[in-house]
Amino acid sequence: MRAELNVLGISGSLRKKSTNTGLLRAALQLAPADLKIEIADIAEVPLYNADIATQGKPPAVERIVAKIAAADALVLACPEYNYSIAPALKNVLDWASREPGNKALDGKPVAILGAGGRMASSRAQYHLRQVFVFLDMHPLNKPEVMIGEAADRFDSDGNLTDERSRELIRDLLQNLVIWTRQLNKD
Ligand SMILES: Cc1cc2nc3c(=O)[nH]c(=O)nc-3n(C[C@H](O)[C@H](O)[C@H](O)COP(=O)(O)O)c2cc1C
Repeated sequence: MRAELNVLGISGSLRKKSTNTGLLRAALQLAPADLKIEIADIAEVPLYNADIATQGKPPAVERIVAKIAAADALVLACPEYNYSIAPALKNVLDWASREPGNKALDGKPVAILGAGGRMASSRAQYHLRQVFVFLDMHPLNKPEVMIGEAADRFDSDGNLTDERSRELIRDLLQNLVIWTRQLNKD
């Protein structure tokens, strides 16, 4: 039997009722049987600072970078802030990218999802794809999970209620399993 894949979900929004974190919660319910998802808590990760990095990394940084390195794949929920990637998410990638040899991120399969207004986080998602080029990560191309008009698709606690969007996430996770196994020659 093939081994279960361990996926780490990271949301770029820190607020409790975040719709983007809601997408990751939906992913927990919609994942195929051979994929296990953990949602990371990145609230305590400080802004990247090379001086802190050389003194010894803060425990919250050590923890998230170790989880990223150990994961078979990542699922990143990417809110759009000022037409680009929410800083909390970019900050975690920046910390992880400073591991010697980029070993936490190099070659890592990654899927993206995001929720927002009319443009559905699309501009931020394409910026994120550009970052993956430099980091030599392996983004899953499709489906693109861009949930627009979020106010109509989530309840007041940020839980995803829209069936079509849930279907997209189900497809995304199934494709992520296939993609990760292809890359691992599994
Ligand atoms: C600082 C800031 C900048 C934002 N800039 C944009 C933007 O450029 N485009 C957009 O569609 N939404 C923008 N938004 C709205 C967020 O993308 C939207 O509130 C999103 O739902 C937040 O995700 P969350 O529910 O996971 O917290 C911005 C929000 C903040 C706080």
